[in-house]
Amino acid sequence: MRIKNICCIGAGYVGGPTMSVLALKNPNIRVTVVDINEERIAAWNDSELDNLPIYEPGLKDVVKEARGRNLFFTTEVEKAIDEAEMIFISVNTPTKTYGKGKGMAADLKYIELSARQIAKVAKSDKIVVEKSTLPVRTAQAIKDILDHTGNGVRFQILSNPEFLAEGTAIQDLMDPDRVLIGGEESDDGKEAIDALVDIYATWIPKEKILTTNVWSSELSKLVANAFLAQRVSSINAISELCEVTGADVREVSRAIGMDSRIGPKFLQSSVGFGGSCFQKDILNLVYIAKSYGLKEVADYWEQVILMNDHQKIRFAENIVSKLYNTVSGKKITFLGWAFKKDTNDTRESAAIYVADALLNEQAEITVYDPKVSEERIYADLDYLNTRSPEENRRLLKVALNPYQACKSTHAVAILTEWDEFKSYNWEKIYESAVKPAFVFDGRNILDSQSMREIGFQYQSIGISNLNKI
Ligand code: UDX
Ligand code: ADP
Repeated sequence: MRIKNICCIGAGYVGGPTMSVLALKNPNIRVTVVDINEERIAAWNDSELDNLPIYEPGLKDVVKEARGRNLFFTTEVEKAIDEAEMIFISVNTPTKTYGKGKGMAADLKYIELSARQIAKVAKSDKIVVEKSTLPVRTAQAIKDILDHTGNGVRFQILSNPEFLAEGTAIQDLMDPDRVLIGGEESDDGKEAIDALVDIYATWIPKEKILTTNVWSSELSKLVANAFLAQRVSSINAISELCEVTGADVREVSRAIGMDSRIGPKFLQSSVGFGGSCFQKDILNLVYIAKSYGLKEVADYWEQVILMNDHQKIRFAENIVSKLYNTVSGKKITFLGWAFKKDTNDTRESAAIYVADALLNEQAEITVYDPKVSEERIYADLDYLNTRSPEENRRLLKVALNPYQACKSTHAVAILTEWDEFKSYNWEKIYESAVKPAFVFDGRNILDSQSMREIGFQYQSIGISNLNKI
């Protein structure tokens, strides 16, 4: 079966870049990305490519080439569903904030709404592809809705989780480690799988395209994220041990990473992982394990989150402790608010929680991030509901210039590893700071020796001054 028309529901951090690359590589397929958020769609259609709703290196070029050719962004959801032979569901699946599974289970209401909309509109057979990360057996729920509320048309459900990481989305989509497609083990199921394999095979070698049953595919996505997050929490746990023993976490990472069984990636100690996936997916895994009565399995994975929370709070507490046990009324500068470099995404960013802890201590924070808007920063803080929006705006300011942000500061805290922070004129920052001037490097990106030579009290993660025996 050759697919000629694809629709993707959801124009977010996953749907937008994924469909842009898919359209670029398949000029003969018409790809329509739909979203209920009019502002988001308008931004995707903006003639000024700097106004795209998502910042990702390389994205502009892809959109420039494919948009208007065979890639379209629209709010006309029903029309696009009706015309497509294959529909990707790429809507958000946040952690539930109410009812059973609150704070743990994935909220599937947007998925269910999408499925109901497909069922209502579809007049011809369709392949429905789960792109969003979902709990195991969601495909069954989607199938039930489609089969019981549809117009008698036949649906095939595939699971095709997306493994791209933000900041490197385009690179990851162009040259992925693997593509995973799960489907039913029937003839119709195989035909649907083959149709999707053909689309990816236009640019990805066939041996990198794995096909499995639906449940393995759904679970693999959660497990991949849980393993990655576990590595970060593991090295972060060791960072605390390094600080009290005099070991250097970077040296430990290097030494263990050279063991080919362990490997060097994802061993960068930090202020804690963030992002829309790690915490949500692990909580989801924990919830699933609990719901099957697997207490030890649930506790094991929950510890990855607890360690991450500890790392964020430990970072904030260290700032308070080094600033003579009080930050009340002191200016603290945050360099970075995004959850990692090269993205404007701030979901679950460590910066939010570190800021909240310091604001509780009445610190006065000034934030500079090269890509995150002032509006987003306040929205993140207001969402925590710890204090009133007025109080958040009184205690926290957003600067448009890093040197302005650092002027008369008591301490600079680095929360995101943006490359530009490394090339700042740190002498100039030192001169304008209150002395003794502190730098808390939550990403270990600066050179400790040069920072100390300038005069800073420089603190990094997992490295103490004890190592001078
Ligand atoms: C992750 C997965 O990598 C990706 O496969 C999945 O599709 C979505 O979730 P993402 O959240 O975009 O991607 O970014 P990732 O690069 O995995 O980083 C997640 C967090 O871990 C960031 O806050 C990052 O700073 C942190 N991290 C990562 C570390 O602290 N240390 C590391 O060594 C690696
Ligand atoms: P992700 O990181 O998974 O891509 P985002 O929150 O960035 O998540 O994007 C999900 C998008 O899905 C949002 O832009 C949201 O407006 C959209 N969305 C949610 N439900 C629907 C729906 N029923 N129809 C169309 N779009 C939807």
